Amino acid sequence: MEKEKRTHKAHCIVLPFPSQGHINPMLQFSKCLVHNGAKVTLVATHFISKSLLGDSGPIAIETISDGYDDGGFAQAGSGGTYLERFQVVGSETLGSLIEKLKSSGCPVDCVVYDAFLPWALDVAKKLGLVGAVFFTQSCMVNNIYYHVHQGMLKLPLLEPEVVVPGLFPLQACDLPSLVYLYGSYPDFFNMLVNQFSNIEKVDWVFCNTFYKLGGKVVEYWMAKICPLRTIGPTLPSAYLNKRLGDDKDYGLNMLNPVTGACMEWLDGKPNGSVVYASYGSFAVLEPQQMEEVAWGLRRSNAYFLMVVRESEQAKLPQNFKEETEEKGLVVSWCQQLEVLAHRAIGCFLTHGGWNSTLEALSLGVPMVVAPLFTDQPTNAKFVEDVWGIGLRA
Ligand code: UDX
Repeated sequence: MEKEKRTHKAHCIVLPFPSQGHINPMLQFSKCLVHNGAKVTLVATHFISKSLLGDSGPIAIETISDGYDDGGFAQAGSGGTYLERFQVVGSETLGSLIEKLKSSGCPVDCVVYDAFLPWALDVAKKLGLVGAVFFTQSCMVNNIYYHVHQGMLKLPLLEPEVVVPGLFPLQACDLPSLVYLYGSYPDFFNMLVNQFSNIEKVDWVFCNTFYKLGGKVVEYWMAKICPLRTIGPTLPSAYLNKRLGDDKDYGLNMLNPVTGACMEWLDGKPNGSVVYASYGSFAVLEPQQMEEVAWGLRRSNAYFLMVVRESEQAKLPQNFKEETEEKGLVVSWCQQLEVLAHRAIGCFLTHGGWNSTLEALSLGVPMVVAPLFTDQPTNAKFVEDVWGIGLRA
């Protein structure tokens, strides 16, 4: 039978988990798809879409319901409740969106979905579409959760040293916190292990890493598990845009970045003299941790630019901003890539989120990684002991 002739550009729907650390890499990946001739529609939840600031360029945005249109995750009250309802309502609303796009003359060919939302693959397959899973976390971390899912890494861990196929032996505390502190956040643990629940049905597997960084684990996955595509680092956008001949740096922020004041402040500082400190988009520090970080930065006697989200600012020591004005600037959010690319930045104090790690690595900024939870301890281990590009605090 003659193959049906394509009359339209391949149309991909890209569905990130609704948080900044997932929207950023999937938006950057969307740019690459557009550059390679595809049409891309990025799908956000109704709630998150209300707080997305910025410009998505040629990438269309559509919204679906996660069942919590007025408050998203916070409205659900618990991770488990949120994820369960998102699966039910999301499956329905994603299916309806795909049907709607078809009837409006924009049929979808492929669903690129965040590995945290494996039910999206069932929606794609039911509608006869190609399904591609996007892993936002590192290959090493995915490999660990995969072996838990397969029952090859038994929990709770009983030995201080752990051997996971595809990786060199690790200390238990180098594993993702949800694994070595088994039982600590059962809902999130289940979500991470369930990333692999239907992986045998998927058409494409993308991971936000690159071959040399993933090293032996990438080889192991290709040989033993599935033909993984390393499509990262999906950043930094400024460089990526330049490479793609597009100098407009569009991006979507869930918080409003302080841009002019940050860059002006940095412009006045000598090369490599500023410590940039940030704990990403959702880490919540204990008040004592916040105090230690704040005074630690102050006492380092280096200049520092510290990001403390609005919701965390009450934990700063009293009058900290005013008293440290001479040395430091505290902002509620910034354009992290622009900051990391600034000549004045000499060091990045980070929680070791995978995006921050890739961004610092790509821009050549040495890191001090103070991991908090999930994948961050494993990222910190690799930063210090494998890649030698930073220290673990
Ligand atoms: C979460 C997890 O914590 C992380 O471990 C996982 O790998 C991805 O999801 P998050 O904690 O937000 O992400 O950290 P990270 O992965 O570093 O992502 C934060 C993103 O926000 C980065 O892309 C960073 O550039 C951006 N950011 C951060 C800003 O744009 N401005 C800021 O002020 C701070």
